[in-house]
Amino acid sequence: MSKLSSDVVVESNGTKAIVCIRAADASDAENLSAYFTGLSTRARNRRFMGARADIAALAAECVARTSHPGHFTLLAELRQEGRGVIIGETLYAYDAAARHGEFAISVADAFQRTGLGLQMMTAMERRASDLGHEMIAAETARANAEMRGLAKKAGFSDTDLDWQSVHLAKRLWR
Ligand SMILES: CC(C)(COP(=O)(O)OP(=O)(O)OC[C@H]1O[C@@H](n2cnc3c(N)ncnc32)[C@H](O)[C@@H]1OP(=O)(O)O)[C@@H](O)C(=O)NCCC(=O)NCCS
Repeated sequence: MSKLSSDVVVESNGTKAIVCIRAADASDAENLSAYFTGLSTRARNRRFMGARADIAALAAECVARTSHPGHFTLLAELRQEGRGVIIGETLYAYDAAARHGEFAISVADAFQRTGLGLQMMTAMERRASDLGHEMIAAETARANAEMRGLAKKAGFSDTDLDWQSVHLAKRLWR
């Protein structure tokens, strides 16, 4: 069984920082909402695959789902002046009918391209594998080069779904 939290080092603007990747719970709803609100419009629209106004409700949903078996949200948290600041999240939910886990991910704009997305994907895959899940998948926009690049680096296949979206999939070896 993988650890419930892990520390990773990221470097942004020449400064190294320790970031804790941990599971979210209901008490994180408000901070997660502030995190989503602080994302650039572009990143937020890509994360939710379209404009969404109900950010507080979305954040509450992300953490409420964590009480369902096979669902979890991982947060990347930076320690700043004695408090935790969320700088990334990934939501994971198992679809029993499709027999695969589905995920969505985002990293705060200032920390993108520091390797954090890949670290979060690795933590998510470990946890999904611990739950006995064998396949993990996501849908993203064809135009989302960041997500497609991240998925490729994490070993996912990338298949066209239609003119605007692609299907990303990876088998988890146990
Ligand atoms: C997609 C996202 C999570 C990637 O996170 P990240 O922390 O920047 O990713 P990493 O730094 O770990 O990058 C890993 C690899 O992904 C690829 N990648 C990341 N950003 C890329 C970009 N803008 N263009 C092309 N490839 C990119 C690269 O292969 C990169 O490796 P490299 O830096 O060694 O070349 C981030 O861009 C994001 O939050 N985007 C907005 C939300 C979103 O689109 N979510 C996906 C839909 S659910």
